Amino acid sequence: MKILHLDSSPFTDGSVTRELSAMIVAELCSRNPGAQVTYRDLGVTPPPHLSAAAMSLLHNAQDEVITPQLQAELDGIYQSIEELTACDVLVIGAPMYNHSIPSNLKAWLDQVCQKGLTFRYTPQGVIGLIPGKTAFIASSRGGIYSTPETLPHDFQEPYLASILDLMGVADCHIIRAEGVNRKTIGREKALAEGRDTLLQCLSH
Ligand SMILES: Cc1cc2nc3c(=O)[nH]c(=O)nc-3n(C[C@H](O)[C@H](O)[C@H](O)COP(=O)(O)O)c2cc1C
Repeated sequence: MKILHLDSSPFTDGSVTRELSAMIVAELCSRNPGAQVTYRDLGVTPPPHLSAAAMSLLHNAQDEVITPQLQAELDGIYQSIEELTACDVLVIGAPMYNHSIPSNLKAWLDQVCQKGLTFRYTPQGVIGLIPGKTAFIASSRGGIYSTPETLPHDFQEPYLASILDLMGVADCHIIRAEGVNRKTIGREKALAEGRDTLLQCLSH
């Protein structure tokens, strides 16, 4: 089993999503001896935002001058796509930021979501080109967004599930620690709930 493990919290100490994503990877490795893990720290080393030149080239423009800077950007994009394509299991540490995801994780998604490489349009609709993978989203938020009243404000988990589905990654599990900033819940209880969800999910 090849695991691609991503973290996107900029906080390296005390990060809930880092703890949760590490827990998921540890459980997967203990159940799959010999699992290989590729780790990308998008929180510490965020991918660059896509430049106009890179986007033009990816869409087959012939007239772009490939400077060393552009080549480095393209290499980074192809490396991210290669790592994603090669994995069987994707584990993403994803905090909620302003109802959505941190921009460093969005920058990685913009790198890997490429028409003709990871999905394509057909007359019948969009087809994902990297099927057969399983994803685990290590989600954390300060408040609660899983009730009917708060669900409409959640642009984090539904967005991640939707964009992974676009590429063909339909088997997506949300491992959630929420309410970490609520007095009545807090970090440890939220993480324990995340752990329970993970164990339930892995027992099926
Ligand atoms: C910039 C920023 C924006 C945030 N936006 C939200 C939000 O919209 N809703 C929420 O419930 N929590 C929000 N939070 C709280 C985080 O989701 C929460 O602390 C989470 O555990 C962060 O993940 P981490 O501990 O792995 O860094 C925000 C935190 C930061 C730093």
